[in-house]
Amino acid sequence: MSRSAHPAGPRHADVLTDGHYSAPPADLNALDPKVWAHTVGRDADGAVTVGGLPVTRLAEEYGTPAYILDESDFRERARAWRTAFGADADVFYAGKAFLSRAVVRWLHEEGLNLDVCSGGELATALSAGMPAERIAFHGNNKSPEEIERAVAAGVGRIVLDSFQEIVRVAHTAQALGKRQRVQIRITVGVEAHTHEFIATAHEDQKFGIPLASGQAAEAVRRALQLDGIELIGIHSHIGSQIFDMSGFEVAAHRVVGLLKDIRDEHGVELPEIDLGGGLGIAYTSDDDPREPHEIAKALTEIVTRECESARLRTPRISVEPGRAIVGPTAFTLYEVGTVKPLDGLRTYVSVDGGMSDNIRTALYDAEYSVALVSRTSDAEPMLARVVGKHCESGDIVVKDAFLPGDLAPGDLIAVPATGAYCRSMASNYNHVLRPPVVAVRDGEARVIVRRETEEDLLRLDVG
Ligand code: LLP
Repeated sequence: MSRSAHPAGPRHADVLTDGHYSAPPADLNALDPKVWAHTVGRDADGAVTVGGLPVTRLAEEYGTPAYILDESDFRERARAWRTAFGADADVFYAGKAFLSRAVVRWLHEEGLNLDVCSGGELATALSAGMPAERIAFHGNNKSPEEIERAVAAGVGRIVLDSFQEIVRVAHTAQALGKRQRVQIRITVGVEAHTHEFIATAHEDQKFGIPLASGQAAEAVRRALQLDGIELIGIHSHIGSQIFDMSGFEVAAHRVVGLLKDIRDEHGVELPEIDLGGGLGIAYTSDDDPREPHEIAKALTEIVTRECESARLRTPRISVEPGRAIVGPTAFTLYEVGTVKPLDGLRTYVSVDGGMSDNIRTALYDAEYSVALVSRTSDAEPMLARVVGKHCESGDIVVKDAFLPGDLAPGDLIAVPATGAYCRSMASNYNHVLRPPVVAVRDGEARVIVRRETEEDLLRLDVG
């Protein structure tokens, strides 16, 4: 082994990319319940099981790569959010995290509402029977056609994101002989990422109407004058993968401040506020997400307190979790191909997917965990990087990982917590086919989104 790459001479297994020294986990066969779906375990042969089915069987039947989604876990998480917020609040699942017709039906059955942000998401929701009044329509650049479809379908609310849109939705609704319920999305001037909370510059972005400049108040003035729309509330979404509630606290304070100004200026108490989504999940054992009931308690308390001090009736609260519901419920199952040890550096483990099924590592430097799932192993840990089959070196799925040193082509490995923003952001880069989503529950599996085929690709290419 060459030592030249590491002049300081760290042990091969101890140095990670950014120079941190990290010991491998005590037991590479252990599966941290924080990052794996609820029904994940190992069978007597050492293969990982989910919903009572071994991944080896799932791989045989459905091929790899595949997103394996634990339906009962999804339902439990959806229900936990619903129960935590109770009858006086609404939970809108953010469809952008992952949407399919099966998911829409589960949400419907579990009593959740749905946030969509494109004509495609709206079509999926409606085609699976989600009642239109339980749908919120979002987006910073809704097309006239999308607005017309949403109004005509009778969606419960449209979240307005610009001055043009206020007028456009009002006119569209009037033309259709309707009065559309709307919220106005504002930017409250906080930026919240993971556990950071930076109170600068957040208004300098494409979403929402800034509060501090007075534009949000002006938007409310205009909305209240138009007959085609009924302003029911104010919306704020402060970011994603947030663990720290302080950003929500500031947001609630400022949204309630606007409600108070609206009451003082117009004599109107708006009945609803939406605090958006963004609650974090565990991608690795280092992440400690909050439970829905803690989040519900914290948000309800903040809003109630702020409203009491502003002498306002407490509005109906809604939230829009996406990742926190679907994220932990799925893992991506891959087959190991090339295993390439680089002396003095690490071992590159290539899988049969990559950045086309998980762009988050390349795009956000996201961290993931990974485990050997087709068997257990007592081999020494090796420092690895899990990479895909695409033609670029940034095609990384898991940047720093410890895997058993005897890992070999044909083994199955899985990356947990890929339920959110992986299938929904998947691409056909290099004409690689997008994997299926296989839902498992009580010993049964079914494909809810099928694997793409070369025929699908060629059908779009009309020559
Ligand atoms: N509501 C609104 C208005 C949003 O814009 C979003 C996410 C959500 C709710 C749901 O947020 P969640 O609870 O899922 O964090 N592609 C990125 C995430 C983009 C989030 C965009 N908006 C990622 O992979 O991390």
